[in-house]
Amino acid sequence: MRRAVYPGSFDPVTFGHLDVIRRSAALVDELIVGVLNNHTKTPLFSVEERVKILLEVTKDISNVRIESFSGLSVDFVKKCHAGFLVRGLRAITDFDYELQMAQTNRIMNPEIDTIFLTTSLEYAYLSSSTVKEVAAYGGDISKFVPEVAARRMKEKYGNKYKNKENVNEQQN
Ligand code: PNS
Repeated sequence: MRRAVYPGSFDPVTFGHLDVIRRSAALVDELIVGVLNNHTKTPLFSVEERVKILLEVTKDISNVRIESFSGLSVDFVKKCHAGFLVRGLRAITDFDYELQMAQTNRIMNPEIDTIFLTTSLEYAYLSSSTVKEVAAYGGDISKFVPEVAARRMKEKYGNKYKNKENVNEQQN
């Protein structure tokens, strides 16, 4: 069975990620989307929330599995009995970091190859961080992330605004 792992933060999943998920799933028998539980970063969504959103947005792709992981991507790939690690390349600016990561991963485990898919042009500008910034200012993110993610972000930032208002009210 040809199996690949697409690791990432997916905080939140964007249409760009979804494009890479669909296209890489078409190349393998099974694609495992690995959601990193990163203890050093403070994500907007908990790992459970990110997994839940990904489950929802990939429910129509039959050979995709969503799992969370901690630690090194290569160790997770090995644990999944997969031979490839998938990453998306949006632009030349991604290249340095991705090349460094792929080479480091290959030295750590020479049996695992990284396959790069170039992100479709219409999503080449898109990143989770810019989407979070737009959402934090109340902007429309419907062109950037699937509906379920947009809804969950509105709830998050709505709550943050509410909390801020509460703090201001308490201070006045
Ligand atoms: O979506 P992201 O944040 O660009 O994904 C980055 C990710 C999760 C692929 C990368 O940070 C990662 O693999 N983290 C786990 C630790 C690891 O294996 N680091 C690579 C050694 S260079």
